[in-house]
Amino acid sequence: METLLAEPLEEAKRELFRNGFLDVEVDPTLDLFAEINKLKKEKNAVVLAHYYQEPDIQDVADFIGDSLGLSQQAAKTSADMIAFAGVHFMAETAKILSPQKKVVLPDLKAGCSLADSCPSDLFDHFKSRHPGHVVIMYVNCSAEIKAMSDIICTSSNAQKVIESVPADQKIIFGPDKNLGKYLIRKTGRNMVLWEGACIVHEIFSAEKIMKLKNRHPNAKVIAHPECETQVLELADFIASTTGLLKYTINDGATEFIVATEAGIIHQMQKSSPQKTFIPAPPDNSCACNDCPFMKLNTLEKLYLSMKYELPEVSVPEDIRLKAKKSIDRMMEISAQAGL
Ligand code: 13P
Ligand code: SF4
Repeated sequence: METLLAEPLEEAKRELFRNGFLDVEVDPTLDLFAEINKLKKEKNAVVLAHYYQEPDIQDVADFIGDSLGLSQQAAKTSADMIAFAGVHFMAETAKILSPQKKVVLPDLKAGCSLADSCPSDLFDHFKSRHPGHVVIMYVNCSAEIKAMSDIICTSSNAQKVIESVPADQKIIFGPDKNLGKYLIRKTGRNMVLWEGACIVHEIFSAEKIMKLKNRHPNAKVIAHPECETQVLELADFIASTTGLLKYTINDGATEFIVATEAGIIHQMQKSSPQKTFIPAPPDNSCACNDCPFMKLNTLEKLYLSMKYELPEVSVPEDIRLKAKKSIDRMMEISAQAGL
């Protein structure tokens, strides 16, 4: 039962949380799964989680998905609050699509190296050096960059988005150069690329994957298109996280070498408990195939963010409206393609 003394304490904790002190103490005896489920009901909240989140966060989520699936869910949910267990650009995309809903991110510092590689002032200069180009940007970028773009894409729909543009139209693509190079090979379009990259997908070692393949000759290599060309050349299958998960479910192989962030293996293993999933090795001995930004979110922080409805993600209205146009275009193309 709440006591009068407990209220100022709760207010003090909320203030600490608001100011970024995320280690606000959580009662260790609490059943966080039960508490989060209770908060969902009390606040008409929904938990959306990316596949790169910790397994316990995936297990308590209402929807787990790739960037496209999460945007689609954010656009259609009837919840009053979205607790976004992912990174900042994803929560921002949810807010752009659903401005009337409160969007909270368990840790505001959960950014993205790829989004950070493309600051809006430098990109503005880049755009001005390439007049007459349509700007297609990967969703892993800030709201400001989305507002400067014509169409957004994710790894699930990038090919369709590029093919929606007339063949003689010049294109700027960013911020991921690896995905860009892959799409140039796939579509035959000659795009001008922004030179950004993801720290997680750039770390995989083609040499170590080849050695691993020698030891597991029946294993299939599956890779996310954010990986470098030499890794993609070794892959039996390349797709977004959802695409990779579906492939492991439907393909006859029983062993897979997985070249993307290791969090996805939780769902692969749950869907196919009889199959073996081997995380692709990085080119050093660190655990760099874990995204340090995604992994800033914890079950405790998710619980606190739902309880205090903080930290909230917001987007200035003028930027939101421009960014929404380029995201809406992506949604239309995806719907037409049945994605
Ligand atoms: P998808 O979820 O679209 O596969 O992208 C992976 C990723 O890097 C998200 O940051
Ligand atoms: Fe960004 Fe890479 Fe982490 Fe995805 S895995 S959020 S692209 S740093």
